[in-house]
Amino acid sequence: MSSPYETRGHSLVDFGPLAREYNRWYATLDGMKHDATQKADVLRILGRPCAPSRLLDVGCGTGHWSCFFASLGYIVTGMDLSTNMLEIACKTHGRSVDCCAGNANRLPFEDASFDVAAAMATLEFLADPAGALREMARCVRTGGHILIGTLNRAAPLNRRRLAEGKQPYASGHLLSPNALREMLQPIGPVRMAASDPDRVFGPERPDRSSWDPLDTSTEGPFIVAVVQR
Ligand SMILES: C[S@@+](CC[C@H](N)C(=O)[O-])C[C@H]1O[C@@H](n2cnc3c(N)ncnc32)[C@H](O)[C@@H]1O
Repeated sequence: MSSPYETRGHSLVDFGPLAREYNRWYATLDGMKHDATQKADVLRILGRPCAPSRLLDVGCGTGHWSCFFASLGYIVTGMDLSTNMLEIACKTHGRSVDCCAGNANRLPFEDASFDVAAAMATLEFLADPAGALREMARCVRTGGHILIGTLNRAAPLNRRRLAEGKQPYASGHLLSPNALREMLQPIGPVRMAASDPDRVFGPERPDRSSWDPLDTSTEGPFIVAVVQR
């Protein structure tokens, strides 16, 4: 698959060389716990569509989240700058997800052409996250939603990763819940959660039935935020 887009200048990290390894994390026990917690947060904060709903997954990478959104019933377009990442998305999820190349800072879509625009683990790796948010808002209809999933700078796990200079985290621009809220608030009302997988699955909460589905604490390593346009 060829992409007319240059990673340099638009992305803080070139994910091309990481594409083959990218999904390995999801197959580890830790990866599964984090993934399940993040997806539970997305379900609580965004939910399933009630009517046919078009969702744009900006920086879809290998299509992990695009496929999840499609399984919830969204009509999904996955878009990414990296040819290598997109190739995997297309091969793995091409039947349920429409994949295309594009730059988050100049989305190749018309105004108001989506009900939801999502960016999962992407905003923190963009050279111009504010510009990308403006573009996402432009492409979402009035009353639609922007969904952001992003690594929480304030969470102990990410503080450790940053202190150790661990890649790709250290090259990203990670946000705290407050900083993300400040970026999103000008667009509309914000709902946010960042559940901690160790609390959801760990010894502190051995009984899953005691997990409060309305818990919207923001201490976990991955922030999920929805803003209505
Ligand atoms: C950490 S990966 C996340 C991939 C996917 N959303 C996931 O969570 O599995 C970040 C993705 O953002 C893409 N990206 C970075 N800058 C971009 C830009 N300016 N426009 C579109 N995609 C971009 C990268 O190529 C990469 O696939």
